[in-house]
Amino acid sequence: MGKIRIVESIREMQSYCEALRRAGKKISFVPTMGYFHEGHLSLMKEACKQADCVVVSIYVNPTQFGPKEDFSKYPRDFERDREMAQSVGVDVIFFPSNQEMYPETYQTYVDVEQVTKNLCGMSRPGHFRGVTTICCKLFNIVKPHTAIFGKKDFQQLAAIKRMVKDLNMDLEIIGMPTFREPDGLAMSSRNVYLSKEERSSALALVGALKLAQKLYAEGERKADVMIQQAESLIKSAPFTEIDYIKICDTSTLEDVNEIKQEAVMALAVKVGKTRLIDNSVLGEELKA
Ligand code: PAF
Repeated sequence: MGKIRIVESIREMQSYCEALRRAGKKISFVPTMGYFHEGHLSLMKEACKQADCVVVSIYVNPTQFGPKEDFSKYPRDFERDREMAQSVGVDVIFFPSNQEMYPETYQTYVDVEQVTKNLCGMSRPGHFRGVTTICCKLFNIVKPHTAIFGKKDFQQLAAIKRMVKDLNMDLEIIGMPTFREPDGLAMSSRNVYLSKEERSSALALVGALKLAQKLYAEGERKADVMIQQAESLIKSAPFTEIDYIKICDTSTLEDVNEIKQEAVMALAVKVGKTRLIDNSVLGEELKA
């Protein structure tokens, strides 16, 4: 396995990827904010299966954090990330600075209007505008054939797919199943913020999703019944504060009352000071 290449400049990244494309090589891309866990590595492994060259970006994107959110304390450890990416066969890490990505003159944003309204869009105004903007920029820099995202960020994936379709971007977006700890907790870089006690309360999120799946399998189709039971389960766990628990149409992400089409239960819960999200498409196996 060759030594991983680190690229900090946009120009260098673009000409490197352009040369690969001209040589007929397939590029797969995993955009990240770093502080890798097994979930990130599973996306990178998938990318390695698909392509001749795998590029991973590590960039904590300031435009997707609200003023009161954890931008400055978001966990970062470049050396650890570099070793982990190298161990699974990643070829290039794109690691730009803020100055490189958003120089003083910067003024262009991509806004996906509908699928970003509900769920996290309600409690994190501007978040998805930041996500779609940075992904659009990264796609123009890395020029990948495929880009791989985790399904834990269900709404993020929907917004990116919408952007790619609406703006006729020439790449395929691939969603991979949520990677979970052995006890079911969805992997997230933010899990490191949890104390031991909060960590066990956080299991209520996956517990609520499992309960919804059980009710759905038993024939329940009323969203409010399922939401209310999920809510009681989460409220019974200490340190939890529910932001939302919703059941939405998987394509529009609008709330549904009676489940007649494919629907997802999505939830966001603060455990102590840490905001966690998780989701599960009803009727799909929840591997936990
Ligand atoms: O999911 C993430 O880590 C980020 O939102 C992304 C897609 C890398 C954009 O900054």
